[in-house]
Amino acid sequence: MNDPIMNPQIPSPCYVCEESKLETNLQLMERVQKEAGVNIILALKGFSMWSTFPLVGQYLQGCTASSVWEAKLAKYEMGKEVHAYSPAYKPADIDELVKLVNHISFNSLGQYQRYKDQVAAAGISMGLRINPEHREAETELYDPSAPGSRLGIMAKDLEGVDLSGIEGFHVHNLCECDSFAAERTLKAVEQRFAKYLPKLKWLNLGGGHLMTRQGYDVDHLIATLKAFREKYDLEIILEPGSAVAWQTGPLVAEVVDIVHNEGPIAILDISATAHMPDVLEMPYRPAIRGAGLPQEKAYTYKLGGNSCLAGDVIDLYSFDHELQIGERIIFEDMIHYTMVKTTFFNGVEHPSIGILQKDGSFKLVRKFDYEDFRDKLS
Ligand SMILES: Cc1ncc(COP(=O)(O)O)c(C=O)c1O
Repeated sequence: MNDPIMNPQIPSPCYVCEESKLETNLQLMERVQKEAGVNIILALKGFSMWSTFPLVGQYLQGCTASSVWEAKLAKYEMGKEVHAYSPAYKPADIDELVKLVNHISFNSLGQYQRYKDQVAAAGISMGLRINPEHREAETELYDPSAPGSRLGIMAKDLEGVDLSGIEGFHVHNLCECDSFAAERTLKAVEQRFAKYLPKLKWLNLGGGHLMTRQGYDVDHLIATLKAFREKYDLEIILEPGSAVAWQTGPLVAEVVDIVHNEGPIAILDISATAHMPDVLEMPYRPAIRGAGLPQEKAYTYKLGGNSCLAGDVIDLYSFDHELQIGERIIFEDMIHYTMVKTTFFNGVEHPSIGILQKDGSFKLVRKFDYEDFRDKLS
């Protein structure tokens, strides 16, 4: 009854970020930074809800950007450190990035050689993304160390190369991983790249450190990072995206119609492909508040999105009552890698964006309309 997500001021559909949950995640990250002596920056690719940046910036050191536009968002909306990594930069990207960033990591020696003089002249710290050839990510789509990966330089390709302008290495091979995966990755880095480490100033350990997930061994992460930092006298940087916004709020949707074909199908006012694409890409089954597995509760429904895509289906869920047209469906944990990936496909109404503030009140920060849809097209 008192569930704040049921606040009638929250429109449907709407992504609702719960400020107190975000702050709890940030406080945990502050502890990791202090106790391990490391710096944590936000990976904008996973969470770019800049209306929360005044809060995020109180705890994290800045952002990492995958592109010029993300670097601008970092610089203009958070205004703290800006780091950049992209698989490849065009000359025009570098012209812009040198005005925006503090660190830049290159994905290849070719890119480093092409841009090093310009970047060094701008006083920006340069790094190389290395490939530790060590696999931890469960889903191949998210595994940068899979064979044939285009991401990162392999140890054998660094042999004999002049790295005099390089101050750091960047490693990213985790995805929703625990601290033991981070420890094994550090071992792989040491095994393949140990001789370079004493000459570096910093080591960026990328994202995928899901330290805010229940059961994550935060003390083990802290001990692992601290030991490595002290051994090599390195500044250690982590750049999580998911972990920052993990479990910080739902996507609120509602039932628009119920049709029948081999069982009841509820059609919602959101679209899996347009508003929660990881459900189809990964794929995964999002949790719905109050719902169970098929047949676990009395009434089982297939839940579908409101686009013409035949496969715009979320999954089967059971409820303890018959669903009603207009009833709210709350998809849990829909803040990271959702808002950043949405599209206007089919012109399905784009979910609004709001914040459930610490005092329990709801603040609508963005509503989309026809003009937004039109202006993205031409
Ligand atoms: C280079 C890099 N850094 C950071 C991240 C953020 O990872 P996560 O959101 O899993 O923490 C990613 C995700 O793909 C990445 O590619």
